[in-house]
Amino acid sequence: MSLTGLFLVIYLIEHAIGNSLLFLGDGGETFNEFSHYMAGNPIIRVIEIILFAGILFHVFDGFYLWFQNRGARPIKYDAHKHHDKVAWSSRNMIVSGSIVLIFLIVHLKTFFYPYRIVHSVPDLYQATVDAFSSTTYSAFYVFAMVLLGLHLHHGFASAFQTLGMRHPNYYGMIKMLGMILAVGLSGIFAAMPIYFQLAKYLG
Ligand code: HEM
Repeated sequence: MSLTGLFLVIYLIEHAIGNSLLFLGDGGETFNEFSHYMAGNPIIRVIEIILFAGILFHVFDGFYLWFQNRGARPIKYDAHKHHDKVAWSSRNMIVSGSIVLIFLIVHLKTFFYPYRIVHSVPDLYQATVDAFSSTTYSAFYVFAMVLLGLHLHHGFASAFQTLGMRHPNYYGMIKMLGMILAVGLSGIFAAMPIYFQLAKYLG
């Protein structure tokens, strides 16, 4: 869980940087050039297979651990009454993770499948503008990014803990880094639908 999770964070950093080309205001020229280069690069295509394997492993392992924990504890602990001590994101990784998974399926169907698989989209920038011209679709993205932020916030620190790196000297720093990544990544991704919605309404 922790290793695949950290690997997926690295992908998200790359994806957020690449997608920020959408903000250049050059009609998508640089964004399209970059996407074209990525789609034609054999090394990237191999990394993509590893990425999808990582996503599948992370999802299956997540559900497996959740079912296992539930099975081991059919009657909830009394301690659960003291909810306030445990962060919402920590108790609800399965909820935030499932919503991010639904987001991912919708997202891949909108962008990855037409562009990379059936090649029915020649202009990826235009496809992005079209997708984010829908207010409902954009609102769903922003909502999913809030959940992604919560998932990353807890997941990042918890991954280091699982890997045995809960040293008191570093744990505060790791938690802070997790917070920066969570807010930074989900903020950059959420800014994309917001940017295109504003462009649509403000012209
Ligand atoms: C809201 C902002 C986002 C935009 C505008 C966006 C855009 C795109 C586009 C255009 C593609 C297809 C072509 C390409 O890779 O260049 C893509 C693929 C993909 N996206 Fe996103 N994305 C966003 C957020 C996310 C998030 C938050 C995740 C993960 C939780 C994600 C996961 C993926 C994956 C796994 C692929 C397929 C692999 C790949 O093509 O590299 N994306 N995205």
